[in-house]
Amino acid sequence: MPISTQKMSDQQYASLRKIIYDRSGIWFADSKKYLLESRLGERLTELEIDDYDQYVVFLTMGPYREDEFQVMFSKITINETSFFRNQPQLDVFEKNVLPGLIEARRDRKTLRIWSAACSSGQEPYSLAIMVRRTLGIRAMDWAVEIIGTDISDRVLKIAKSARYPKSAIGNMSYDIQSRHFDQKDGEFEIKPDIRNMVHFDKVNLKDRLATGRHGKFDVIFCRNVMIYFDDNMRKQCLETFNKQLADDGTLFIGHSETIINRDQFTPRAEPQSFAYVKTKREF
Ligand SMILES: C[S@@+](CC[C@H](N)C(=O)[O-])C[C@H]1O[C@@H](n2cnc3c(N)ncnc32)[C@H](O)[C@@H]1O
Repeated sequence: MPISTQKMSDQQYASLRKIIYDRSGIWFADSKKYLLESRLGERLTELEIDDYDQYVVFLTMGPYREDEFQVMFSKITINETSFFRNQPQLDVFEKNVLPGLIEARRDRKTLRIWSAACSSGQEPYSLAIMVRRTLGIRAMDWAVEIIGTDISDRVLKIAKSARYPKSAIGNMSYDIQSRHFDQKDGEFEIKPDIRNMVHFDKVNLKDRLATGRHGKFDVIFCRNVMIYFDDNMRKQCLETFNKQLADDGTLFIGHSETIINRDQFTPRAEPQSFAYVKTKREF
């Protein structure tokens, strides 16, 4: 199918990027017009729509606007992720944060972790594997809850299925592969003990109500999504994380991301990365 060569006017670009921003916090800079044009040109062709004005109407007023937002969103966002992504940072979590938390929670034996913008689930499942091996035999006495959230229905479906192609598990040791995955119909499925530790929910980080509904967490991971947000949205996310973290909680962000709410988090230098400790309760 030939891709629509329909040009996007500056006005149309302004309308579309506002819709995207208002819904998700993702900000397309002036220089990114060509990107939106190339990604959405394909969509215009699929829908047999002639121009972007019609598409804006379809997206905002059409009977399938909710579904269309999801389709459009999957075309314009990057869902790249992998198991054990950024190992040095995960080593900090496993070796320098988790043992202290387990000690601090030894009486109540609960641990709650939020993987925000988790894409297809590799991040929360990796965290579950690390928690499981750190707790060892104690795991049976502990209530561990890892919540993976994302805005996209498409990636959440994969996450909930807990099934991945061989290409997704290739970077893990044979030991991890055999201990935590079952081979089924040519795919690799996370074993129930790890799977049962992880739950998924659709949460848009822009939605203040939704981001509060899972309660408090001991650790929050939010990696490689805030780079796509503008400063207002980043600030909003960090306020949310401050609010949802336990007082001794820790935040991990992507290695190319920075904390702009400096009064709410104290950076702690760790090997090859930073962990951010909550510093202020209310804001
Ligand atoms: C590059 S992936 C990061 C996945 C994982 N955290 C990692 O670092 O490997 C970014 C994810 O952010 C999600 N996302 C984008 N905007 C969002 C929003 N407003 N609320 C929740 N998730 C969002 C996308 O759907 C995508 O799955």
